[in-house]
Amino acid sequence: MSNVSRPRVFVSRRLFPETLALLEQHAEIDVFDRSGSPSADELLARTRGCAGVVAQGTDRIDQAFLDALPELRIVANVAVGYNNIDVAAARARQVVVTNTPDVLNEACAALTWALILGVTRRLGEGERLLRSGRWEGFALELLLGMDLVGKTLGVIGMGRIGQSVAAKAAAFGMRVCYLRSPRRPDAQITAADGTPYEGLSLDELLTRADVVTLHVPLTTETRHLINQTTIRRMKPTAYLVNMARGPVVEEAAVVSALDDRRIAGAALDVYELEPVVHPGLLRFENALLAPHLGSATVETRTAMSTLAARNVVEVIEGRPPLTPIPGSWVG
Ligand code: GLV
Repeated sequence: MSNVSRPRVFVSRRLFPETLALLEQHAEIDVFDRSGSPSADELLARTRGCAGVVAQGTDRIDQAFLDALPELRIVANVAVGYNNIDVAAARARQVVVTNTPDVLNEACAALTWALILGVTRRLGEGERLLRSGRWEGFALELLLGMDLVGKTLGVIGMGRIGQSVAAKAAAFGMRVCYLRSPRRPDAQITAADGTPYEGLSLDELLTRADVVTLHVPLTTETRHLINQTTIRRMKPTAYLVNMARGPVVEEAAVVSALDDRRIAGAALDVYELEPVVHPGLLRFENALLAPHLGSATVETRTAMSTLAARNVVEVIEGRPPLTPIPGSWVG
């Protein structure tokens, strides 16, 4: 086939060689091959004339971008979250939007448990002590943390990742409660053996949980769900974990809660203004801070990239997308 007739696809970040090879079999591809992300201008310029773009959660795909690119047929996000995309605007222009659900559930749930264990057992603090050369050897009262056994895990966002986190709680002897969906208050979520988890209101969950873990998408309803008021409902012995999106938590509220010892600690993987982190958070030994690593394993990131590429191939060849974002595509 002559290259001239092949659809063009812009890939906004380096992907794994096998993913690029898959795309290359079906399209002319242009890959952003530097570190960091393309600027908004470069993203637009290099997507011009393309039928597809493989985007990341940090690429802003808004109305102006879509208006400037009438040939575009698919935006394939290499992420499960899609708050970077104006989905309604894409749908109005018949541009398909896809994400990468399911393939990252286990990696994200595993990192959630790494954060829960890390913050409750003071691992970051311990490692800093050891590396500083100030560790004086075993001491009975050194860096005492909190046992998980017998405690309550409060899951906010009982979707695929939240349920995978909840499923692992029994291994640590924890009870699970979750935030009832205001849209489906009577829906019952059960463990694999059919035992129902306890659905609570936000206030009930925050006052009861020993570890509060966040897994909701970022929407107008979830922005600053944890704020100066709601964080005050948490127990002073409880820990907050954010694996969702940065703006779901008001970072300044976490800083003041840690300052006033109103919570025991916080473990965050995502931030309001990534890669900027509220400087106040850096002051606390009991803040465990990861640089947005939820799905960062070789296997999972490969699966995500490949799923995004397969979505592009399906759409540019006239077939339905594999994982369209709900409401973004009418078959
Ligand atoms: C990562 O944050 C994702 O949404 O996949």
